[in-house]
Amino acid sequence: MVKLSRRVLEMEESVTLAASARAKELKSQGRDILELSVGQPDFITPKHIQDAAIKSIQDGSASFYTVASGLPELKDAVSQYFENFYGYSVERNQVVAGTGAKFMLYALFAALIDSGDEVIIPTPFWVSYADQIKMNEGVPVFVTTSEDNHFKVSLDQLEAARTDKSKMLLLNSPSNPTGMIYSKEELEAIGNWAVEHDILILADDIYGRLVYNGAEFVPISSLSETIRKQTIVVNGVSKTYSMTGWRVGYVVADPEIVAAISKIVSQTTSNLTTAAQYAAIEALTGAQDSVEEMRQAFEERLNTVYPLLAEVPGFDVVKPQGAFYFFPNVKKAMEMKGYTDVTAFTTAILEEAGVALVTGAGFGAPENVRMSYATDLDTLKEAVRRLKVFMEN
Ligand SMILES: Cc1ncc(COP(=O)(O)O)c(C=O)c1O
Repeated sequence: MVKLSRRVLEMEESVTLAASARAKELKSQGRDILELSVGQPDFITPKHIQDAAIKSIQDGSASFYTVASGLPELKDAVSQYFENFYGYSVERNQVVAGTGAKFMLYALFAALIDSGDEVIIPTPFWVSYADQIKMNEGVPVFVTTSEDNHFKVSLDQLEAARTDKSKMLLLNSPSNPTGMIYSKEELEAIGNWAVEHDILILADDIYGRLVYNGAEFVPISSLSETIRKQTIVVNGVSKTYSMTGWRVGYVVADPEIVAAISKIVSQTTSNLTTAAQYAAIEALTGAQDSVEEMRQAFEERLNTVYPLLAEVPGFDVVKPQGAFYFFPNVKKAMEMKGYTDVTAFTTAILEEAGVALVTGAGFGAPENVRMSYATDLDTLKEAVRRLKVFMEN
């Protein structure tokens, strides 16, 4: 038998991708499965963005490698986007693009984390953070939040988690999986705390444009010069422009950090696929109407499905403010059905009700399940109906 690396043996598979794979397998056996497991918008990438990529392929610009950190025009596009949505612009040497925000997170951990460095992660957290940190010999330090405090960390909790090894704090607002958003005041307090203790802030802003019912996304990096210098912003086009398949992510940070991440990119992927870079330039700087149309569709789904989901016996759900997930607490539901393990409970829902959700276990939330509402209303309504029948049986 092949001896696999310790690194891979200690790694967890992404629970979201695993859940989706199992749902697809059942579907291929002819089972009627409603898939609410994957975190991706169900829309086709807007045509003007497609066209920009096609043009770059046909005129030959997409045939070649680019600079590892990305086309200068893409960095300018990110700067323009930041001017529009963050209220400040950035220089080219403050931007590095790469193969999805997911890989950019990996590259930045590789560039910044040394063995034993601690990264504070409020839970529930997006599934890949902890494993990517561990792959780079860092130590995730979890700080638990729950429905009771609207899934938000307090300064006292952060202070209790801080040690002399604390290198970075991870902030994901709006959050996957909870949909929670920190307010300006909360972010100011957290930002000043990080500055005071020289802890880097990693702001994963990927859901920043997907906020609903008047909620506001405030980028922590926009709050003050000092906080901005302390912050590394990760963002991408996947969720905002329905471009998950294009794999475009980027980091905005101090030139020194950007240069270090670019070095990792240059020795791993060389550069983000060139045609995808042209598509991203158009996405970031072209017409933004489709973003608002998609946002409104998500908002309608949220407002329609939330009251229905709240009626499912044993499901306690906080109404999300952003992203596109419900994250109900199913402790009571598990008790009613005789389960103690949320992953087994999620599997039962898949096998018996034909609804694919994701276990909260991988998000550091053993009493919750994640249900994506980035799919059409009919499917969502039917899924909730099936959950209700499953719980009432
Ligand atoms: C919180 C969060 N960050 C980053 C990503 C990665 O996005 P991508 O690699 O598609 O740019 C995701 C995707 O699910 C996410 O939910």
